Amino acid sequence: MSNTDLKVKVWRGAQEGEFVEYAVPRNPNQTVLDVVTYIQRKLDPTLSYRFACRVGMCGSCAMTVNGVARWTCRTHVSQIVQGDSLEIAPLNNLPVIKDLATDMREFFNKWKGAVGFFKGDKTRHDDFAKVEPESNERQLANAGIECIGCGVCYSSCEVVEKRPNYLGPAALNRAWTLTNDVRDVQQLDRLRAIAGDEGCHACHTQGSCTERCPKKLEPTASIAGLKKLVARAAVRGSKWGKL
Ligand code: SF4
Ligand code: SF4
Ligand code: FES
Repeated sequence: MSNTDLKVKVWRGAQEGEFVEYAVPRNPNQTVLDVVTYIQRKLDPTLSYRFACRVGMCGSCAMTVNGVARWTCRTHVSQIVQGDSLEIAPLNNLPVIKDLATDMREFFNKWKGAVGFFKGDKTRHDDFAKVEPESNERQLANAGIECIGCGVCYSSCEVVEKRPNYLGPAALNRAWTLTNDVRDVQQLDRLRAIAGDEGCHACHTQGSCTERCPKKLEPTASIAGLKKLVARAAVRGSKWGKL
């Protein structure tokens, strides 16, 4: 190890495992993903991790770096290195498949649980649906629409950690976006899904999700929107029917 190398501790194993230290040459503009890739290509080809786009679009490269969930392809080592040390672990709140790769199934199953998918009623023979860009609904949907499904918010959520059935920030953010999609026809089902014990009311509103989201989205605000909608629906009935 030269005195310009980074000391990088990397989680090896699955749920049970240990940190193994590697020496990685330091470079200007190096990202955390570059470091992991260097280890896998030059030092230990058995290291498992996940990435695809390298430009902050696919959402697959998130890991826990120095204790904080981050997207690794857009996180520069210089922003977060402590002295010359980095510690890289898989995302919290998800089962580990191997090393830095987590099993994302329960994360995406919760999107399904929150009815976080679009269903319209138009066919290819109908005219295009028109959504006014300036409408309130469109503006509200816009605020959360750029989610890349990286899991950073989910992995940072204290409620998911204590209540594994909680739908979590990403699924609820998606539900809010679709709640404001005037073309969608599953509104009542969605409202029922997110109104339950494991839905929006379980959120403590402390905002780790919003603080950490690499796309600067605000799941906390989306969840607050859902809470208001459910409260209104309980008092006055929902505009889509009875809850
Ligand atoms: S604000 Fe809610 S969803 Fe976000 S991290 Fe906190 S408890 Fe989880
Ligand atoms: S809301 Fe943000 S942190 Fe959560 S999955 Fe989407 S992009 Fe990632
Ligand atoms: S590799 Fe696609 S977001 Fe990082």
